[in-house]
Amino acid sequence: MPGSTIDLRVVGDAGALAEQSAAQFARAVRETLKTRSYVSLVLCGGETPIGLYERLTRPPYDKGLPWPAIHVFWGDERFVPHGHPYSNYRAARRALLDHVPFTAANIHPVGTEGLTLEESAQNYERILHGVLGDVRLPAFDLTLLGMGNDGHTASLFSGLPALEEEVKWVSAVRNAPKPPPERITLTLPALKSSRRIILLTTGAEKSIVLSEALSPAGRDSPLRRLLNPTTKGTTGNSITVFSCPA
Ligand code: 6PG
Repeated sequence: MPGSTIDLRVVGDAGALAEQSAAQFARAVRETLKTRSYVSLVLCGGETPIGLYERLTRPPYDKGLPWPAIHVFWGDERFVPHGHPYSNYRAARRALLDHVPFTAANIHPVGTEGLTLEESAQNYERILHGVLGDVRLPAFDLTLLGMGNDGHTASLFSGLPALEEEVKWVSAVRNAPKPPPERITLTLPALKSSRRIILLTTGAEKSIVLSEALSPAGRDSPLRRLLNPTTKGTTGNSITVFSCPA
């Protein structure tokens, strides 16, 4: 089984991170549409991708990318109303989705209202299958991810059950160490099946955790399991890591 290829790019500041990750985003979208009729894109939450999202709303990307051909999903979501300041959906709308011409029906947020946490996870898995089909793995065309200082990615945290899920695409998360405690997350097999992954990380502490995740004898972490080609679920994806240690 082919392993992942990991391309690590160290950049000097937030501007370079936004610029270079936007160019990589555009390359991945254009490459996908050479052989497929639409792009399945997974957005990540947190602060780090905001610079990238905002860069994509400016030339040449605002009018230069085929936004209507992109289906948007979330790699994780905080279990709060979409209008809540913690909402990853709200953050993406404000920074990107409201500023470029996505097709409204192609935006697929995690439902977080009128559902229990478990119902939300089951419902999102149904939404994913509704778009991607009755397939074993979602094989997203492009997945954006961040990471935490503890080595988490999406809402996969060490020691919590969701990290061990091997079949489902979506899991409920309780007691997350990063607030809020209740979250919905794509699982490791779902994330690892992505054809392309762009990982964004900033700060010296995260760069140390990243090195640990990339090293042959590093401590186990969700990020290491995602990046490590020998762990189950790798389908030969292409991973570009943008690290801004400053
Ligand atoms: C979330 C994110 C999470 C995030 C990292 C980094 O919902 O919290 O998906 O995985 O990417 O915690 O967050 P920052 O970019 O804010 O440092």
